[in-house]
Amino acid sequence: MLFVTGGAGFIGSNFVLDWLAQSDEPVLNLDALTYAGNLGNLRSLEGDEGHIFVHGSIADGALVERLLADYRPRAIVNFAAESHVDRSIHGPADFIDTNIVGTFRLLEAARAYWSGGSKDDSFRFLHISTDEVFGTLDADDEAFHEETQYQPNSPYSASKAASDHLVRAYHHTYGLPVLTTNCSNNYGPFHFPEKLIPLVINNALLGRPLPLYGDGQQIRDWLYVKDHCSALRRVLQSGVPGRTYNVGGWNERTNLDVVQSICDLLDELKPRDDGQSYRGQITFVTDRPGHDRRYAIDARRIESELGWRPSETFESGIRKTVGWYLDNAEWVRNVTSGSYRNWLEKQYA
Ligand code: NAD
Ligand code: DAU
Repeated sequence: MLFVTGGAGFIGSNFVLDWLAQSDEPVLNLDALTYAGNLGNLRSLEGDEGHIFVHGSIADGALVERLLADYRPRAIVNFAAESHVDRSIHGPADFIDTNIVGTFRLLEAARAYWSGGSKDDSFRFLHISTDEVFGTLDADDEAFHEETQYQPNSPYSASKAASDHLVRAYHHTYGLPVLTTNCSNNYGPFHFPEKLIPLVINNALLGRPLPLYGDGQQIRDWLYVKDHCSALRRVLQSGVPGRTYNVGGWNERTNLDVVQSICDLLDELKPRDDGQSYRGQITFVTDRPGHDRRYAIDARRIESELGWRPSETFESGIRKTVGWYLDNAEWVRNVTSGSYRNWLEKQYA
């Protein structure tokens, strides 16, 4: 059995769905169901005995210990986190509580479970982290590799960096068989519409402005979420404990390019009633404080050591993504409820 945390969020739910589609091994899914957690993502698993959902927090050590004792998983895959940079700027406390303290409590419970099980060499603690821990790049800097120094710039990335250090220390000090992945920006189905790509698709269809921070020339390296899930399966299967793996899409794009690509796809797939391009809705707004200019992942280690490469280009992945949002308007309506509107007012006032 796998013990997944945060499996009702964007990447976690894609991981659980893909896992159960290709394996008979059951999944125990612990999620606190914050605003970002949504059981609707897992609706297709209703009645599937391979999926056991538990509502609770990774910071609840007693609960995690009990789940480990009852279900005896062979691995923990930790997605649970507060994940949105802009929210961490408005209020960092939840990021410290979940990303740092929560990961600490999860590690403590994992250590007790693993020690009690005669330190089984085959046990794995896979921690999902981010490229944001490496800080920001200039246009001609080399991409982030696994040895790049940590220089987190936002409360979010600082909290993720702290959790990565704890995970590393539990391997170095106690020998816990940990694996860490640092991946670039994901996109695809079930992406909560506070993040750039789903926000822009949703706003475009509602006739709202498409907000680009600053000059829109910031660069991200886009990774289709299903490719990320296949990379995680590979790392879980063959990764070397104590080692870290960067996961990227080899798809650097400026934010302006990304938003224009979405507009062009919508022009093709769902043209505006007035025949004008969605590009006309693009609006430049106040920049994010401390906004990192460029992220880029050097994903050669995972390719050379574990034989993984992404299968989607940005063009193929964004077409699938826009198509998914057009086909799943009800999912979008369900997640953009009252509290979501409050967030938009706070962030884009
Ligand atoms: P998300 O915000 O969509 O989902 C997070 C999930 O964690 C939600 O289901 C939420 O309910 C749950 N959660 C929050 N606090 C919890 C707690 N204390 N206990 C249990 N569950 C809790 O995030 P995501 O985009 O799916 O990201 C998943 C992981 O991947 C995070 O660790 C994030 O830092 C990392 N990551 C994300 C991206 C990206 O582009 N989205 C890129 C790199 C790394
Ligand atoms: O790089 C990995 C990270 O990617 C993950 O660790 C984070 O969890 C994930 O949220 C994401 O962080 P970003 O800050 O890069 O993603 P976001 O979608 O918020 O923003 C992408 C870029 O678009 C960034 O440069 C900010 C910009 N942006 C974002 C929003 C929401 C805008 O220009 N306008 C917007 O309205």
